[in-house]
Amino acid sequence: MTDKSKNNDNGASDGSADRVIGTPSPAEGTAIVAGSDDPGAEHPGAYPPEETHAHSEEQQRRAEKTASMWFLIAFLAGIGFFVAYFAFPPNGEGEPAIADPQIGQYSNMALGGTLALALFGIGAGMTVWARWIMPHYEVSTPYDDLSSSSEEKGSFGDFFMRSADESGFTKRPLLRRTLLLSMVPLGLAPIVLLRDTGPLPGDKLKHTLWEDGLRMVVEGTNKPIKEADLAEDGAMITAFPLVEGEGGEHGGEAQHLSLNDQAKTVVLLIKIPEGDFKPGMTEQQMNWTHNGIVAYSKICTHVGCPAALYERGSHRILCPCHQSTFDAADGAKVVFGPAHRPLPQLPIGVDDEGYLIAKGDFSEAVGPTFWDAEKGD
Ligand code: FES
Repeated sequence: MTDKSKNNDNGASDGSADRVIGTPSPAEGTAIVAGSDDPGAEHPGAYPPEETHAHSEEQQRRAEKTASMWFLIAFLAGIGFFVAYFAFPPNGEGEPAIADPQIGQYSNMALGGTLALALFGIGAGMTVWARWIMPHYEVSTPYDDLSSSSEEKGSFGDFFMRSADESGFTKRPLLRRTLLLSMVPLGLAPIVLLRDTGPLPGDKLKHTLWEDGLRMVVEGTNKPIKEADLAEDGAMITAFPLVEGEGGEHGGEAQHLSLNDQAKTVVLLIKIPEGDFKPGMTEQQMNWTHNGIVAYSKICTHVGCPAALYERGSHRILCPCHQSTFDAADGAKVVFGPAHRPLPQLPIGVDDEGYLIAKGDFSEAVGPTFWDAEKGD
């Protein structure tokens, strides 16, 4: 059934144009052509290694050790991935430690580095295995009927098992076991990463630090904002809530907000001529403004970039990431781009001393839209 001959001898193409990196040189290979006259004939048995393997048994043994070493390195790197994952536990406030950019960069490097080494180790081991241990010959058979007879199917099963023998998978337990060992950590990694999906956020996504009476301060300087600071039509200020330390109620020092709180509370204060507000603004939305000053979350409802550009002539707020555009004179409704919902509005007013204050929390959840962002509590 078989006809074995060296590529060089039978005039077959050297295959250099089709050669895949990591596969042996065709010059070392042997072509085995299955005859078409009797496709169902019993396979005569495993091909003698000296005809199918380009390397001596001793070279194969050395390669076996090298490949196994790579598999062990992959295994250790996989274990390292778990160590790196658990070495950066959640901090005391229940937020992931990687939310801290200082810690996050090391966590990312450790996780990415160990995962890359694990995958590289498996790839390197399999490359050594394929180049030095697996038999190097090509099998071809002419096209005939597409459906296979039961004899052909049986013959294929037989051939498959013999090929498994020849590849060393069944014959070389060290290789097989170290390969499977190297894959165990990678198989378990997704299960461990499920830990990051919990605990459930509850209503945390729908609330921010803003509450009735909190003063608004300028981003960067923490200077409390007065209505007069936005006297000019088209004026715009980026603001945060004034969260005071000891001494409280306006005598205390402004506290530093965490990155999370900054992202959730940041607002754009914009002065719009009162006659420019569109009829689409509801009465409630107009009540949330103060003498033409309106406050919207600065975090784009698409995927959370700062929507930081404001065009005073058209009252459009533009997010530079994907060009979502919101109409500040119409409840920050989306007028262009991929965002689905308006920027949430913050109700504002002034206190006894004329400082701008919040009159409550945002009208909706801030930031990127999620499954029930538009529902109330
Ligand atoms: S994040 Fe603003 S448009 Fe995509």
